[in-house]
Amino acid sequence: MLLKIPSSVAGSITFALAVAALPDCVSASPQGEQPYGTISLPDRTLLLNADGTFNHDKAVVFNAATALKYRRNLMNFQENSGGSLPAGMKLIDIPLRAQMQARGQRDESLTDENDDSEWAGRLFDNVSGKCVVEHSSIIGMVRIGKPGQKFLVDFDTGSSDLWVPSSLCTSTACSSKRKYNSSSSSTSQNETGTFSIQYGDGSSVSGSIYSDTVTVAGVKVQNQRFAAVTNLSSSFASDPVDGVLGLGFPSISILKADPVFVSAAQQNAITTKAFSFYLAKNNSELYLGGTNPKLYNDPIEYHPVDKSNGFWQVKNASITVGGQTVLSDFDTIIDSGTTIMYGPPDMVKEIYSKVEGAEVFDSSEGFYSFPCNEVPEISFSWGGEKFAISSENFNLGTTAPNASTCAGALAAKDLGLGNTTLLLGDSWMKNAYHVFSLEKTAVGFAKLK
Ligand SMILES: *[C@@H]1O[C@H](CO)[C@@H](O)[C@H](O)[C@H]1NC(C)=O
Ligand SMILES: *[C@@H]1O[C@H](CO)[C@@H](O)[C@H](O)[C@H]1NC(C)=O
Ligand SMILES: *[C@@H]1O[C@H](CO)[C@@H](O)[C@H](O)[C@H]1NC(C)=O
Ligand SMILES: *[C@@H]1O[C@H](CO)[C@@H](O)[C@H](O)[C@H]1NC(C)=O
Ligand SMILES: *[C@@H]1O[C@H](CO)[C@@H](O)[C@H](O)[C@H]1NC(C)=O
Ligand SMILES: *[C@@H]1O[C@H](CO)[C@@H](O)[C@H](O)[C@H]1NC(C)=O
Ligand SMILES: *[C@@H]1O[C@H](CO)[C@@H](O)[C@H](O)[C@H]1NC(C)=O
Ligand SMILES: *[C@@H]1O[C@H](CO)[C@@H](O)[C@H](O)[C@H]1NC(C)=O
Repeated sequence: MLLKIPSSVAGSITFALAVAALPDCVSASPQGEQPYGTISLPDRTLLLNADGTFNHDKAVVFNAATALKYRRNLMNFQENSGGSLPAGMKLIDIPLRAQMQARGQRDESLTDENDDSEWAGRLFDNVSGKCVVEHSSIIGMVRIGKPGQKFLVDFDTGSSDLWVPSSLCTSTACSSKRKYNSSSSSTSQNETGTFSIQYGDGSSVSGSIYSDTVTVAGVKVQNQRFAAVTNLSSSFASDPVDGVLGLGFPSISILKADPVFVSAAQQNAITTKAFSFYLAKNNSELYLGGTNPKLYNDPIEYHPVDKSNGFWQVKNASITVGGQTVLSDFDTIIDSGTTIMYGPPDMVKEIYSKVEGAEVFDSSEGFYSFPCNEVPEISFSWGGEKFAISSENFNLGTTAPNASTCAGALAAKDLGLGNTTLLLGDSWMKNAYHVFSLEKTAVGFAKLK
C-alpha cells in the first residue's frame, strides 16, 4: 500500500475549495512512492515569520489550544475512570475572554478559529504568505470502510480518538471535506452512543459512532470504533484536514474505545507493535509497524511508559543547560500534536534561571527570551544518553524585528498535568527519532542520522 501526501491532496476534486482558499497548502515538494508501512509527512517549520521574528500571535493561539486539549484529555480520563483524575493532575480553567482576545488579534483567520487544538495548529501565515497547515501538523491518509473511503487526518500522540466528517453532515464546514458514508461501506456497523466535544465558547463537534475497517499505510484494523461528525463548526472549513487519528491510550478516549493502533496491535495487524516518528524539515515520516533504520543510529534507548494516564508519559527525565543538570526525576509527555514544549511555571523558571541573559518577555503566556547570539545548549536525558535540542529547534525567532533577543521553545504554562511534568511537542520531537512501542509499553529515543 502506497501513500502519497500532500500531492494526493492536490489531485483531489473534493479539495478544490480548501485548496483555493489556502493556495500554498499543497505546495510542499511532491513525495515519491513510499515503501509499505510508511507515511511521508509534510515539511515542518517553527513559529517563525518571514522576517525572522517569532510569531507571537500564533503562539498565543497554540497555548490556548494546548490548554484546551489537555483539559479535554483530563475530562475524558475523569469520565472513563468514574470521576477521578490522574494523580497530581487537575482541570485548569481557561478564561474564555483571554482565548477570544488571543484569537481576535491581527490575523483574520484566527478570529473564529475553533478552540480545538488539532485544528488551531493549522493556519494561513499572513506574514510569510505561506500555509502553515502542513507545517505544523502531522497528517496523512487513512481509509475507512469497504471499499475504502479516504480521509486526510492528523496523527496525534496526545489524543486517542479517530473522527472524520459524516456524509450526513449538513454543516457548511463539511462541504469542503471528505465525508464518511456508512451506507457505502459493506463493513460498517452502527454503534450506540454519540460523540461530542464541547468547546469553551459553547460550540461543539458532534456525531454518531460507527465501527468499520480502518487502513493506515497498509495496516488494516477491523471493527474500529470511530466517530463520523455531523455537526462541524465553520472554523473547520478552511482546513484541508478532515479529521484526527489519535495515537494515545484508551483512558483518554471520548469514544471509550481502543485507538486505531491499539486495535492494530491486538488484532496482530502489525508484526512489530510500534510506530515511529521522524520529524525534520524535509522528509518527515511516520513509520507504522516498527522503525526505519535509515533514519536513526542505533541503539534505540527504550524507557517505560506509564500509560495509565492515557499519554505517552515517560518518567525519570532530567534536563541540562550548558552541560549542567538543572532538574531531574520529572515526567515528560511526548505529544506529536503540540508544537512547542510546556512546563509548570516553577520548573520553567528554574530552567531559564540557568540560561545566561534569559528573561520573561510575556509573563501571561509564559514566554521567555534569551540573547539570540547565545542559544542555550539544552539536553534531555531519561537516564541514558543526552539528547540535545538544536539551536534551530529551540530558537523560535526574534522577539521583535531586528531584536537581539529570541523566544525560547519552552514556555511556562500550567496545563493541569502536575508540577513535575513537561509536555514535549514538536520542538523536542525534531531532535531525536521516536519509537512509540506498545509491545514494550515504552518510548524509544535514538539519535538522528
Ligand atoms: C494580513 O493582515 C493584514 C492586517 O494585519 C491585512 O491588512 C492583510 O490583508 C492580511 N493579508 C492576508 C493575505 O490575509
Ligand atoms: C451514501 O451511499 C449510498 C449508497 O452508495 C447512496 O445511495 C447515498 O446517496 C449516499 N449518501 C450520501 C449522503 O452521499
Ligand atoms: C444504521 O442506522 C441507520 C439509521 O439509523 C440505518 O439506516 C442503517 O441501516 C443502519 N446500518 C446498519 C448496518 O445497521
Ligand atoms: C450543532 O451545534 C450547535 C451548537 O454549537 C447547535 O446549535 C446545533 O443545533 C447543532 N446542530 C445539529 C444538527 O446538531
Ligand atoms: C529541503 O527541501 C528544500 C526544497 O524542497 C531544499 O532546498 C533543501 O535543501 C532541503 N533541505 C534539506 C536539509 O534537505
Ligand atoms: C534515572 O535517571 C538517573 C539519571 O538522572 C539515572 O542515574 C538512573 O539510573 C535512572 N533510573 C532509571 C530507573 O532509569
Ligand atoms: C531591520 O534591519 C534591516 C536591515 O538591517 C533594515 O532594513 C530594517 O529597516 C530594520 N527594521 C527595523 C524594524 O528596524
Ligand atoms: C508539587 O506540588 C505538591 C503539592 O501540590 C508539593 O508538595 C510539591 O512540593 C510540589 N513540587 C514541586 C517540585 O514544586
